[in-house]
Amino acid sequence: MFITSISSRDTLEKLKGDFKVIDCHCKKFPDGEGYIRFDEKVKNIREILIVQSLHYPQDEHIMQLFFMIDALKELNIEINLLIPYMAYARQDKRFKDWESVSGITLAKIIDGFDLKSKYTVDIHDVKITKSMKGENLSAMPLIAEYLNDLDLKNPVIISPDEGSLDRAKKVADYIDADFDYLEKKRISGDNVEIKPKDINTKNRDVAIIDDIISTGGTIAKACELLKRDGTSKVVSGATHLLMIGNAEERLIRSGVDNIFGSDSIPSKFSKISIASIIDDVF
Ligand code: R5P
Repeated sequence: MFITSISSRDTLEKLKGDFKVIDCHCKKFPDGEGYIRFDEKVKNIREILIVQSLHYPQDEHIMQLFFMIDALKELNIEINLLIPYMAYARQDKRFKDWESVSGITLAKIIDGFDLKSKYTVDIHDVKITKSMKGENLSAMPLIAEYLNDLDLKNPVIISPDEGSLDRAKKVADYIDADFDYLEKKRISGDNVEIKPKDINTKNRDVAIIDDIISTGGTIAKACELLKRDGTSKVVSGATHLLMIGNAEERLIRSGVDNIFGSDSIPSKFSKISIASIIDDVF
């Protein structure tokens, strides 16, 4: 299979399967407009896989994706698309009147390109993947494998909220661990208690698993509470680590012993590669 990318080159380097990379060069004009051009090897191919993550700078990566798709379509090449990190996925519904539902807008545009196949990875809400008539893949088995190697003691896999519980359950099933989610209980007007719904984590190791770590606020708060209640070790990971601002410092201060994520957003925390997912699917 021929494969190309601009924003996910790190992932391409880790592929083990029989992929032939078609380089796609990009540059910016002095006025800030983007430009892309494929290597001439593109001229004789019939089908390709684009792997393009849409992390920061999101809008730039999105425009590169559109330019790549359209240039390949002009050459009558069938296109498969895998988006490791889908930008705007957290704007998956209208929270306030008259605002745009950006995640769905982006999905609809992608759907309009009439591609052969479309994949996302651990998207915040599969509603968006469905809007682009695609399929959502999961890095949770890879996270489970990573946790296995950490040799956690009597581990509990915790989701920071009920919405992410399925992900925590998936990881727990793989490594045969307990799982739970953090429940918010209102004690009084200005006092909210957050604790695992069913399981006491005292003297146990905990892995908090989410889809995204952005400012680190969600995990930091969870970790502080778990540690206060006697949890031994707290490790935390997600498929997509945006790590905005002082997220790392915040997590370390809260007592997180290990922060990990995938290379859907390349960084020093990319301890897991989604390359094996691509190897499996294509
Ligand atoms: C939100 O619903 C997501 O699943 C994550 O929990 C959220 O994006 C994490 O954000 P932050 O790291 O800023 O707390």
